[in-house]
Amino acid sequence: MKRTATMKAIYHEDFGPVDVLKYGDVPRPSPGKGEVLIRVRAAGVNPVDWKIREGLLKTRMPHQFPIIPGWDVAGVIAEVGAGVSGVRKGDAVYAYARKPVIKDGCYAEFVSLPARQIAPKPPSLSFEEAAAIPLAALTAWQALFDAAGLGPGQVVVVHAAAGGVGGFAVQLAKWRGAEVIGTARPENHEYVRDLGADHVVDYTAGDWRDQILSRFPRGVDVVLDAVGGETQVCSAEVLRRGGTLVTILAPQAETDAALRRRRAKLAYVFVAPNATQLRKLTALVERGRLRVHLAATLPLTDAAEAHRRSQGGHMRGKIVLQVR
Ligand SMILES: NC(=O)c1ccc[n+]([C@@H]2O[C@H](COP(=O)([O-])OP(=O)(O)OC[C@H]3O[C@@H](n4cnc5c(N)ncnc54)[C@H](OP(=O)(O)O)[C@@H]3O)[C@@H](O)[C@H]2O)c1
Repeated sequence: MKRTATMKAIYHEDFGPVDVLKYGDVPRPSPGKGEVLIRVRAAGVNPVDWKIREGLLKTRMPHQFPIIPGWDVAGVIAEVGAGVSGVRKGDAVYAYARKPVIKDGCYAEFVSLPARQIAPKPPSLSFEEAAAIPLAALTAWQALFDAAGLGPGQVVVVHAAAGGVGGFAVQLAKWRGAEVIGTARPENHEYVRDLGADHVVDYTAGDWRDQILSRFPRGVDVVLDAVGGETQVCSAEVLRRGGTLVTILAPQAETDAALRRRRAKLAYVFVAPNATQLRKLTALVERGRLRVHLAATLPLTDAAEAHRRSQGGHMRGKIVLQVR
């Protein structure tokens, strides 16, 4: 009788708090047609991982238990499936690994993925640094460039500039030639300036809208909302007439009315896998235009601790799980 190969992984069989996460043996995937099997070296941690664990996406995407969390991976190709060309066993790659069904993620020794989702890992980065990039940096790219059409000379507010998405957004907006205002707590101001922000606003001190409007009385061209709620609604007030609010959180009912008063536009982005953009990000990393800040690197077995830290809401940069 043929024995099913297994691998170590973090998984959960129900929605719930961090203690639903288990570490143990699960069946090892094999690559289907058009797929590659990646030997995972590092898995990036994103807020969506704990949101899925808590069941917050269950009405939005199909789920199938047991769920292995994790949508970011860096690793080495272990097997190449039928119909895949241009990549070989042993290639170092990274990917944004979202699939149509939430089931087999990257907190594991192996993950299989459509080859069209992967890109070469930036050679100058460690696997841990590379795994921090795909989801957050692609979100920043698609929000700023695809949705808001940010261009040189425009002014952009990046909320949560010290976070995963915000940190990449500040760097990408500067690379595109925009003037960047980042919002953050005072302890993160030096960090956000170091990423390239021209101005930093303390969202905890008084009204952040006044701080922005005193410098840009006509308002800014684009706001990237990575916070949601009241921050999103109030963001309409710092936009110039005809400006764009691009949000990556659920659009609020009040946001539309606030934007109408400014004749401004709303765009919502749910980041999509895009290997072409990932290759561009690889090139920016190699040209020294995009840096990665790791807040912590933890072993795979500490996934619960990684979720606790992410869920705390004050990550500076990214957190990554090492898979040996
Ligand atoms: N739709 C999509 O495709 C998509 C993609 C990626 C992420 N997201 C969502 O976007 C959000 C951000 O993601 P992320 O990966 O950047 O999270 P993250 O790395 O955990 O971001 C945390 C950051 O948020 C900052 N922050 C918290 N409250 C703030 C506020 N009121 N104003 C300004 N900054 C504030 C914190 O900075 P301080 O310590 O300075 O407060 C911290 O640096 C999450 O909810 C995530 O689920 C959506």
